Amino acid sequence: MEKIIDETKQGEHLVLDQKKGNSRKLFIESYGCAMNFSDSEIVASILSDLGYNTTKSLEDADLVLVNTCSIRDKAEQTVRKRLEKYNAVKRINPKMKVGVLGCMAERLKTKFLEEEKIVDLVVGPDAYKDLPNLLAEVEDGRDAINVMLSKEETYGDIAPVRLQSNGVSALVSITRGCDNMCTFCVVPFTRGRERSRDPQSIIKEVNDLWAKGYKEITLLGQNVDSYLWYGGGLKKDFLKASEMQKATAVHFPQLLEMCAKAQPQMRVRFSTSNPQDLTLDVIHTMRKFDNICKHIHLPVQSGSNRILKEMNRLHTREEYFHLIDNIRRILPECSISQDMISGFPTETEQDHQDTLSLMAYVKYNFGFMYKYSERPGTMAERKLEDDVPEDTKKRRLAEIVQLQREHGAIQIQKYVNTEVEVLIERESKKSSEQWSGKTSQNIVAVFPKETYKVGDFVTVKINDCTSATLIGQATGYSNYN
Ligand code: SAH
Ligand code: F3S
Repeated sequence: MEKIIDETKQGEHLVLDQKKGNSRKLFIESYGCAMNFSDSEIVASILSDLGYNTTKSLEDADLVLVNTCSIRDKAEQTVRKRLEKYNAVKRINPKMKVGVLGCMAERLKTKFLEEEKIVDLVVGPDAYKDLPNLLAEVEDGRDAINVMLSKEETYGDIAPVRLQSNGVSALVSITRGCDNMCTFCVVPFTRGRERSRDPQSIIKEVNDLWAKGYKEITLLGQNVDSYLWYGGGLKKDFLKASEMQKATAVHFPQLLEMCAKAQPQMRVRFSTSNPQDLTLDVIHTMRKFDNICKHIHLPVQSGSNRILKEMNRLHTREEYFHLIDNIRRILPECSISQDMISGFPTETEQDHQDTLSLMAYVKYNFGFMYKYSERPGTMAERKLEDDVPEDTKKRRLAEIVQLQREHGAIQIQKYVNTEVEVLIERESKKSSEQWSGKTSQNIVAVFPKETYKVGDFVTVKINDCTSATLIGQATGYSNYN
């Protein structure tokens, strides 16, 4: 059950709980990773206090914000196209202001204001609290920009406005930035150094979500397993912390446990894990708590030791296998998913074969697979030539996708004739008579509605499946209800 994420299809128009008395209209859309969607909820919260309610109609908007992604060139092209569309609307409604948020804002900075005349406002991922000042400047007729990255900002004190939510599952951000410096990746440049959020503010958010009826949270970070709270500050400065701070520091397994215990009836997920940082402690904590979902997204990017090294991924293929063996031993029911990159600079046919054989060892449940896209300013761009021909990248990607399809089909078949627990999230897209929800393993399941409702935990007997979806019949509420 492979999923090829394509940012171009991910733009979502967000709708916010309307606040009485607010008269200005905000149109906000997000591209890219879950962190961007979570950030837009923070931005919506800040703007709600400034008198903005959201609108679904671009034409009606006083302010248009686009939260952008820089991870691959294609993602940036999509945003450029959206700007053209906003431009057309602005010709009819000249008072409309346009702002660019997120990773492209950070990467291109003032260049955006020069290149795209339509843009009035450029705000990087750590500067959203400055929006009131920046908007005041824009209202005075000046372009405004803040792309300062921060050592401290985690937005821990802002209650996100849940946008476009199904009321069942919510994103909770726990770290910002990334210190890993994978050579292909632009994120450390656009989102800055890694810092973690105060665990108390995380637990408070989890408790608030439960009180509002939410049943599942996903703890979010570029690299969640390296979560580390020692009283604030950058992760890289931890060595300079006092003995007291070191002794009382909260690491990811402890945070996971705190969340699982805070709301034992609530499902807890997390994403993403870099294999080099996922410890046995995390796997044991997952085992200890039924409400921690049994799914690990464990991007590997390549199966070749040489390429892993070139990518600055700090583990070998053999160490990855060892980790997979440990997961399978300690958590036999756990699903595992991947991210893969085809055609990284210098990748040979043998390196590609190593990727395929790594996949054959793991047999992932699903994955997100991409062609290498050179990103300006990254180590790979500076040190290596983007020398794998486009056709070869494409062909290798197709082979990876095909193999994933086969593995996904084998894996999903294993659930047929078993009972799984499903949290109902929404109506099935294919039938208004069916519910759709996810298993603990993050696999979608559909089944007849009967008298169940959104937010129920239901035991479902699986009778059949497609390549990505389980099909079954509810047999009753599960233990969670
Ligand atoms: N740690 C992050 C990873 C961010 S990027 C997370 O939380 O998901 C998501 C995926 O995009 C990466 O795992 C990688 O497979 C892919 N990716 C990143 N940079 C890329 C590039 N330059 N070209 C192609 N794919 C890339
Ligand atoms: Fe990017 Fe590697 Fe961090 S993929 S987000 S630098 S873990």
